[in-house]
This record gives sequence, C-alpha cells and structure tokens, in this order.
Amino acid sequence: MLDTIRWTESGVIMLDQTALPREVRFVTCATYVEVADAIKTMIIRGAPAIGVAAAMGVALGMLKAPADGVDAYFDTVCRTLAATRPTAVNLFWAIDRMKRLYYEKVHRRSIKEVQTTLVNEALQVYLEDIAINKAIGRHGASLVPDGKTVLTHCNAGALATAGYGTALGVIRAAVASGKKIDVFADETRPFLQGARLTVWELQQDGIRTTLITDNMAGHFLHSGRIGCVVVGADRIAANGDVANKVGTYSVAVLAKENNVPFYVAAPISTLDLTLASGDQIPIEQRPATEVTEVFGVRVAPDGTDVQNPAFDITPARYVAGIITEKGVARPPYEESLPALSSPRPQPSESAGR
Ligand code: MRU
Repeated sequence: MLDTIRWTESGVIMLDQTALPREVRFVTCATYVEVADAIKTMIIRGAPAIGVAAAMGVALGMLKAPADGVDAYFDTVCRTLAATRPTAVNLFWAIDRMKRLYYEKVHRRSIKEVQTTLVNEALQVYLEDIAINKAIGRHGASLVPDGKTVLTHCNAGALATAGYGTALGVIRAAVASGKKIDVFADETRPFLQGARLTVWELQQDGIRTTLITDNMAGHFLHSGRIGCVVVGADRIAANGDVANKVGTYSVAVLAKENNVPFYVAAPISTLDLTLASGDQIPIEQRPATEVTEVFGVRVAPDGTDVQNPAFDITPARYVAGIITEKGVARPPYEESLPALSSPRPQPSESAGR
C-alpha cells in the first residue's frame, strides 16, 4: 500500500484521495494552513488519518513559530486545525495531545526543543496508529465468519488511517488468518469513498471485492450471503451510539432485521465518553454540490434544495460489538467501553489489593 500520509523535510506529504482512483498523486503541505485545507477538502480523510494529519499540522506549524508570542501562535495553529471538520473526535484528540505536551512538558523551553518534541510526538501518533490498527485486526479477525462475504460502508482502510485500516484491518487480518472471505463495498454516496477508495485499496491487496450501490445493501443482507458487516467510526458516545459515514445507520438496521452481526472497528481515540449519547455528536454538513453534481456534472435541476449531512448516528442497539485495539466491547457499552479504555493497572499498583 502507498503511504496515506508522511512526514518529510519538505512538509507533510499526503496521497490525494480526491483524485483516486483515476490518478495516484501526492500533495505536499508546506504549512499548517495547507494541512488544514487538505483536511477540509478531504485530500486526507477518515477519522484516524485526520488525527495524524492534525498532529503533523501542529508540529509543522511550530517549525515556523515567531520569536515572540509563541503561545498565541501555538493556539492559532491549534484553533485553525480544529476548525476543519467537526465530527471525527480523533481530530480533537490529536490536537489535545499536542497541547498537553506543549503546555505540560516544553512550555517556555527553547523553540528548538519545542519543535523537536512536537515533531517526535506527531511521528509517534503516526506509528502508534498503525500498531493500533493491527491490534484491532487481531481482535476482530475471529469475529468474521469463514466462507462468507463481509459488507462494509465508506472507507475505513489504510487510506483512512496511517496504515492497515480499522474495518479493512479486520478484513486483512481475517484473510491473513486463512479465512476464505470476500468483500462487498457500498459505493457510499455522495463522496463515493466505497467505490473510489475501498475497492481500489482492496484491489492493491488482491482481496476479492464487489461494488454495490448503497440501495442494494438490503437485498444482499437478506440473501444469506453476508456473514457480517464491519464499518469504522468517527465518534462513539458513552452509550455505544456510533457516528459514521451517512448511510451506516440504514445498513445497521437492515443487518439487524436479517440477523447479520454489525461490528464497528475503531481505536480507543475514537471514543468520546464525555458524550452520553449519539444525539450530542456534531454532524458535519457538506456542500450541496456534492449531492447535485457527480464529478462536476450536474444531475439535479437548478434550484434543488439539498441536505448533505456527512455522517449519521447508529444507535447502540444495532451494534453487536465495538472492536478496539484493547479488545471487543459488547453491550452494555456504558460498562464495557470505560472498562476497555481505562489504563490497565500496573502490576505494582494492583499488588496486594
Ligand atoms: O468523510 P470521511 O471520508 O472522512 O468519513 C470517513 C468515515 O466515515 C470512516 O468510516 C471513519 O472515519 C472511520 S475511518 C477508519
């Protein structure tokens, strides 16, 4: 697989996901403002990849920090990156991680030390993400029924992360464990992450993938062919409600109706346990032209009223399990999610209790 995102001397290099699969081209972001634009315009996308891009964006920004007013400049960098996309909590998680490091570890130290520390942290976020996805894959592989088809929605693959993927990581790990499975990819209107990105990505790995339009999901879920559904997430509330690409909710309801298990694969950094339920998750509204046009060609009459929420909320009751790097959370999620996400006690802490 090609790198989704890479830190280099000349800036942050991203595989341009707006051009795939027609063209494999890379964009170099030389400033934090360019990183913010790349997130907004979806050159890079997918919750974990957005988090990695934000961490790199903060580090990149600080390479050009002024001699005076460093704190104010740092806050501007963080605010600019935070104002890009509202739903994926990994964005805010990554910026908070950089903020904590800045204010708690290197505040008022030499600018050189600040820069080196923030760059190393961004690289650490990148490397951790790949390791986390492989762990998600290991935990999820056993849930995938052998000899069946996995249905997925949007792209929760290597392209949506630093590498390997969450939902597609589970599929990769299941294939690596010897399971004979294939994949159905919803095309995922209106941005077509399924058709353009998931199919392309799985083709690179030689995993057999069939493209279906979103409105065919019910037909195939009823057919008996689909062994399970695995999708990613942009934010998961404390009660297990899941925000993911719009259309996920419909797939989850259809899966339950047809007794097909519906799994969500996501890192712990996608949990937002400060929110009691999915109702509190902000949903990004995207431009109307994404709906009225297909690749720049207008398909709806002039003057059409449009709604374009980029995400929807799947209530926890439809979710059979949430696959994280620390294991699989099962209902009731109010109990299983905090248990998984809290740091495990060190042997010395638990000794004698
Ligand atoms: O709008 P996008 O393409 O950023 O939406 C991406 C998704 O909804 C993914 O399923 C989610 O971010 C998980 S990616 C591992």
